[in-house]
Amino acid sequence: MNQMNQTATVRQYEAADSLPDEYRELLYKVLKVAADTETSLLFPETDWLKMIIDLAPTPEDRQRIARLYAEELHHGLLFYKIWRDLGVTMTAEDYRSTREIYFAATPIQTWTDVALLNTLTDRVGLYQYRNMGGCSYLPLARIVPKIEKDEIGHTGMGYVHLRAICETPSGKADAQRLLAKWYPVALDMFGRSDSKREEAYLRWGLKKLGNEEMRQAYIREVRPLLEGLGLEVPDEKFNRKFL
Ligand SMILES: [Fe+2]
Ligand SMILES: [Fe+2]
Repeated sequence: MNQMNQTATVRQYEAADSLPDEYRELLYKVLKVAADTETSLLFPETDWLKMIIDLAPTPEDRQRIARLYAEELHHGLLFYKIWRDLGVTMTAEDYRSTREIYFAATPIQTWTDVALLNTLTDRVGLYQYRNMGGCSYLPLARIVPKIEKDEIGHTGMGYVHLRAICETPSGKADAQRLLAKWYPVALDMFGRSDSKREEAYLRWGLKKLGNEEMRQAYIREVRPLLEGLGLEVPDEKFNRKFL
């Protein structure tokens, strides 16, 4: 994408009134995906929250992981608040029926799942928020730095847990086995390489980089982190749902 030419002409918006139709539609989608992702642990079908807390091996881990997910819910509220300014108010029924986050269907059965979830998917979130940093919708641009900072903490906490797990041969074997489940999920979260909306997001200054460009940057960062723990990283095409 010819980013430089585009950012030179991108207009910024301070409020929801008088947004161009296409812009409003794209902003709606960005906010929906973000809010759904952040609050996915409360989806009635998954009810991740209690399960994740109960998997924590020590009282300190229970406390830290509960705090991490309280931050996710706060992120969700920040996105819902901007969404409300667009005239969208979620009802309980919307909450049940309209979310689109397929990764929330990935089963979480062990603390190793939680460590991989935080290491890998919270880092995807970090990439996606960095990609919105300084975006053309100023209410959104203003909340991004705080969320980014939290996501750095989340992925870092996940990595600390994963490193401790990999210190024993059986822990490392578990992590290797479950990496085959979480790595493709994380790569899929960047979205399709041929996304139809991508060009429009860049043109309107809502995002800076395309899906595949971000995915490749993520792989370059995550691969050595995982290999540093003695794990073998699956091929980037392995078990993927969206390419
Ligand atoms: Fe978050
Ligand atoms: Fe997070």
